[in-house]
Amino acid sequence: MTGNQIRSAFLDFFSNKNHQLIRSSSLIPLSDPTLLFTNAGMVQFKDVFTGIDKRNYNRATTSQKCLRVSGKHNDLENVGRTARHHTFFEMLGNFSFGDYFKESAIEFAWEFLVGRLGLDSERIWVTVFLEDDEAEEIWSKKIGVPSERIVRMGEKDNFWSMGETGPCGPCSELIFDQGPELHGSPPGTDDDGDRFLELWNLVFMQYDRDSDGNLNLLPKPSVDTGMGLERLVSILQGENSNFHTDLLMPVIKFSEDKTGIRYEESESDTDVSFRVIADHSRAISFLICDGIMPSNEGRGYVLRKIARRAMRHARVLGIKDPFLSETASVLSETMGSAYPELRENLNYISKISIVEEERFSKTLAQGQPRMDELCDKARESDDKIIPGEEVFTLLDTYGYPLDLAIETSLSKGLKIGQESFDMAMNNQRERARSFWKGSGELAVDAIWKKLEGAIGNIDFQGYSKLSIPSKVLTIVKDSVELKEAESGLEVDILINPSPFYAESGGQEGDQGRIEWDSGSAIVLDTKKPSTNLNVIRILIERGELLPSQEILTKVDDLRRTKLSVNHTATHLLQYALREVLGDHVKQAGSHLFPDRLRFDFTHFASLSEYEREQVEDIVNQFIMQNREVVTREMSLDDALSIGATALFGERYGDDVRVVSIGDFSTELCGGTHVNNTGRIGLFRILQESSVASGVRRIEALAGVSALLNSRVEQRKLHEIRQVLKSGPDEEVNRVEELLERSKNLEKELSTVRSRESTTELENQIENHEEIDGVRFVAIRHDGVDSKEIRRLIDVGKSKIKSGVIIIISVLEGKISVAVGVTKDTLDRVHAGKLVGKIASSLGGKGGGRPDFAQAGGGKDIEKIDEVLSSISTLIHDGS
Ligand code: SER
Repeated sequence: MTGNQIRSAFLDFFSNKNHQLIRSSSLIPLSDPTLLFTNAGMVQFKDVFTGIDKRNYNRATTSQKCLRVSGKHNDLENVGRTARHHTFFEMLGNFSFGDYFKESAIEFAWEFLVGRLGLDSERIWVTVFLEDDEAEEIWSKKIGVPSERIVRMGEKDNFWSMGETGPCGPCSELIFDQGPELHGSPPGTDDDGDRFLELWNLVFMQYDRDSDGNLNLLPKPSVDTGMGLERLVSILQGENSNFHTDLLMPVIKFSEDKTGIRYEESESDTDVSFRVIADHSRAISFLICDGIMPSNEGRGYVLRKIARRAMRHARVLGIKDPFLSETASVLSETMGSAYPELRENLNYISKISIVEEERFSKTLAQGQPRMDELCDKARESDDKIIPGEEVFTLLDTYGYPLDLAIETSLSKGLKIGQESFDMAMNNQRERARSFWKGSGELAVDAIWKKLEGAIGNIDFQGYSKLSIPSKVLTIVKDSVELKEAESGLEVDILINPSPFYAESGGQEGDQGRIEWDSGSAIVLDTKKPSTNLNVIRILIERGELLPSQEILTKVDDLRRTKLSVNHTATHLLQYALREVLGDHVKQAGSHLFPDRLRFDFTHFASLSEYEREQVEDIVNQFIMQNREVVTREMSLDDALSIGATALFGERYGDDVRVVSIGDFSTELCGGTHVNNTGRIGLFRILQESSVASGVRRIEALAGVSALLNSRVEQRKLHEIRQVLKSGPDEEVNRVEELLERSKNLEKELSTVRSRESTTELENQIENHEEIDGVRFVAIRHDGVDSKEIRRLIDVGKSKIKSGVIIIISVLEGKISVAVGVTKDTLDRVHAGKLVGKIASSLGGKGGGRPDFAQAGGGKDIEKIDEVLSSISTLIHDGS
């Protein structure tokens, strides 16, 4: 069977056992802000296990995209050096949410492996948790696994938890004996060989661990299982390495063809490089596909590290040009049927990869001079060692590859300080580990998690109604539920049903009012602290509010309309950008205010004036055509099959809302919209800028704001015309004329000024002073720049013939000092030293050459006269 067939066989097997087939969720774990990447199949179901999230099925099966970059064996540097470890992998899983438990989970697993796939039952070992008699009994009595192949293990191996908190429970693992020709001993021994392969983990989810470490029973015992597809395929295809399976081999083949080097032809380091490229290419393509951009922090940094490691190893094989777009094509062919997003986004993935690869080449070019500098320094040192921490910085900050650093240093007869390098590396690893534990985003406030579980879904009616009767469910202030709230207090409330749209999808939350018999409150904002909650922040104007109060709700409809206008305009904008710039354009974020909108998208250059105008024109054309905006609810699969654009990083439920404009734009979107594009009225782009590498931002106006902005611009232009006294269409010429005139005047003025300065200086030179036989002139001459001062010094020197010229000048509140010394006086006075002395008496400092020096003189303007009169002393004291 091929890898694709094995994946399908698993999903079909469990679908036939009444499991709902669910798509893999994104690699960005949206329901869990404490996690950096989705690292197991159960991540998207975490809230279902705890009972917070309710689904209309209680059995599910998935093939989940996972990424692990830390852990026992998953440190990035380890991947490629073994037969099994990966950054990206697929986890096959079946899940029971309070439905079946241990017995069925075990029976299903056995039936699939032995019954469906025909694995040799004699080669399957199982482990169970030390205290789990029940599981042991099922394995031995029901399934008939002989007791010598059932091993009890402790918490470290057989108690699974997704992190420090969350769902967890004892687990039972199926382990496959690959045969005595491989090294390794049975489970429960310390030997870490490859013979006994951990294949499938069945977790009996019973507890929810809270932040104090308490194990609270889940509402119903559940099941979470996970089996690495790559391992299963390697067993079935009779391979001892995941890299030999048809899941990973195509990229290795591609690299072989590209380089002419053969994988595993002889024992060599290049094999590691082949494996690194095969593994990392998958991680890179899938990460980019899920909306992560290479960057220097968070998820983007992990992507950059993986990409750079892949590029480094590509260089080992002699590949210097961008190649990741080619491996992305290979993957889209081999994995595109299971993950259609790879095919749909191939262009986009290729573009981002190429940009990152080109950036890396530049990095290398920048790092090389720094590396050469380190080598030069080390060559002068006694021990001929390049300090390890310096090499580490080069690696960490500039991304300069270590192997290249080693190669360069060896070729110059130098060594890299191993100990200090390791120390720096370990420090960084520790930092990275603590960082990888969580992405640093704020976890949802516990009170909302609790309420979400207790209250369930709130009926949002605000798509069609803006004023409805409703009821308060609870009042919360500072994370505590209140029994009452008096007037003047700002509190959060939950109501059901609710017409107030909670901030999401970039659209700001609704404002408005609520009223009840004896009181009223202003709605300040509506937010969504977690998926199913719609929290309303109110300020009580009058009366007392009690939980369970019947109320009348009123959304501020003018504000809402403006937000809807902006939201529909944003969809048009996205369409127009893709039309003009290409289909690599993806929404990377948006913020819809009532009076303006901001749209971030992936693109690699600033927009030309012409492109901006084209985008604006396309949007306005659709506005003028008054296209209909239709919203429909449908299943996620149906939505994707009609080509709806899904957003990166957005979490969609099973049923989604699809917003279509005419027949050209179809987006998954939970926001509010106008019914016809004509309602938008007008659209104007205000500006376009860069927000991060590869991400551009457009700020734009729609509707009344666009009109008002045009009016303001028009007024400004009108005023300008009045000031310029120009008729329409003459303003630019007038401004150019005026600029030209002022330039000419400035030139003239400066000629006159310098003539005057020269004359003045010449007069002063006639009256020069003398000390110890040295002639000198010291003057203050304000308002001249340093170039002019230099000129005056030269004029002075040639006029005085023998002596010293000192000019102090104040320009825009800053003093500058210049000293010139004629050739024959150089043995008596040093210009650099004298300028230093003068500057320091004025609060500044400086120095320079013996014959000419200039310095910033500080700010003590009031001391200038005093300094000028003491010049003779300074010269006398020796400069
Ligand atoms: N969550 C468990 C694991 O990751 C089983 O899926 O091993």
